[in-house]
Amino acid sequence: MEDIILHIEICQSADSTLRKTVIERAVFQEFFGKIIQLETVVYGKDCEHLCDHVDTVICYEENLLKEPIEIQDASIVKYYIYRLTQEGAATEIMKSDSDELSVASHWLLPTQEFHNLWDNLYYDGDVKDKLLRFVQTIMSFSDHNVNPNIISCNKVILLHGPPGTGKTSLCKALAQKLAIRMGDRFTHGEFIEINSHSLFSKWFSESGKLVMKLFDEIRNMVQNEKALICILIDEVESLAHARNLCTNGNEPSDSIRVVNALLTQLDQIKRYPNVLILTTSNMTEVIDLAFVDRADIKQYLGNPCVKAIYSIYRSCLNELMKTDLLEEKDIYDIPEIDKDKGMLEYRMSPRHVSTKLLKISEMSEGLSGRTLRKIPFLAYALYLPRLSTSKIALDEFLPAMRTAVIKQKEESRLQQS
Ligand SMILES: Nc1ncnc2c1ncn2[C@@H]1O[C@H](COP(=O)(O)OP(=O)(O)OP(=O)(O)O)[C@@H](O)[C@H]1O
Ligand SMILES: [Mg+2]
Repeated sequence: MEDIILHIEICQSADSTLRKTVIERAVFQEFFGKIIQLETVVYGKDCEHLCDHVDTVICYEENLLKEPIEIQDASIVKYYIYRLTQEGAATEIMKSDSDELSVASHWLLPTQEFHNLWDNLYYDGDVKDKLLRFVQTIMSFSDHNVNPNIISCNKVILLHGPPGTGKTSLCKALAQKLAIRMGDRFTHGEFIEINSHSLFSKWFSESGKLVMKLFDEIRNMVQNEKALICILIDEVESLAHARNLCTNGNEPSDSIRVVNALLTQLDQIKRYPNVLILTTSNMTEVIDLAFVDRADIKQYLGNPCVKAIYSIYRSCLNELMKTDLLEEKDIYDIPEIDKDKGMLEYRMSPRHVSTKLLKISEMSEGLSGRTLRKIPFLAYALYLPRLSTSKIALDEFLPAMRTAVIKQKEESRLQQS
């Protein structure tokens, strides 16, 4: 059997002043002798030893083991203790003639806003862990000064795929995850989302200056070796679009110059060991080739498969139960359903809520993650027999979800035709 390596991420409460070693001990005590459900949020307030000092604890297993384990079975246990920043995004505003443009948004990581985002994104296979390992390798190569002319490793990640498949969310979640997991190297993370639409909006000659100004600021941040700097360029196709404008006779030289300026700046900035560049696109075929070439990792994200759909719905229903809007019932997690004969058993008991949810998940194939997360809301708002002031029974809610799925599928068929 492979060694069990446990990663335990502990979110320390804002007002707790306990030292990290004390928290580690308390977590160990709390889990000792108990079965740990991996990748499940444990709330500090529900625990005997952690109550006022820890908000959440989540345990992951390095080799993606999904079976529950006991902490004493692990050969290595790594603790990551972090605090969340409460401020939302700061907007970088720049003046261009008489106008003000918001050219970037800026978060300090780990932030409350991205908390648990990682765990709420579901993909087929091990997409998320593959990405995490890629990035950890990139950072470690960079730490060891591996010569990039010998082993190519570009520090640029491109996530591409249809709209609403979680590309932007995964970039944010990944940056947050790194800020947590690399807490021994970095004191915090900075996440800068460049708004390329406004950067390339109208004034190309102005844009050049804006790019320079923005990167001057980023360069200042990068000087702090203790900060992990993640730069997100969402929808990079807008760069290609900017270049293509030259074929339409619109200020050709300016637009090309601005895109080139941005690419050059990125090339310079990514040489720093504490920088990572994340990009997304939903039109891979039209992305600027210069950009595609720069990305080491090109990860396609598609619409979720049935298992991922089930997990998304399950998380939505659990949220409605937690907030007292829906009757509480246990909905099985995928690994439980997935056990060899398990699937059959649930199918044979059609009245079980998990079986019903699985059926709805099968019907929902082809819908994007974004649409799936809307289904429970639409079901609640539009398809319940009546708007109730008390908790809704699952027997009423699930058929409403079914109707919402059917309507959404009709809508997306109409949009495609
Ligand atoms: N695989 C998924 N699992 C869970 N939630 C998902 C998934 N895909 C998308 N979502 C949810 O859908 C919403 C939209 O996601 P996001 O904006 O990241 O998509 P995107 O791929 O960047 O879309 P676009 O191409 O339109 O920019 C988010 O609330 C996200 O949580
Ligand atoms: Mg997006």
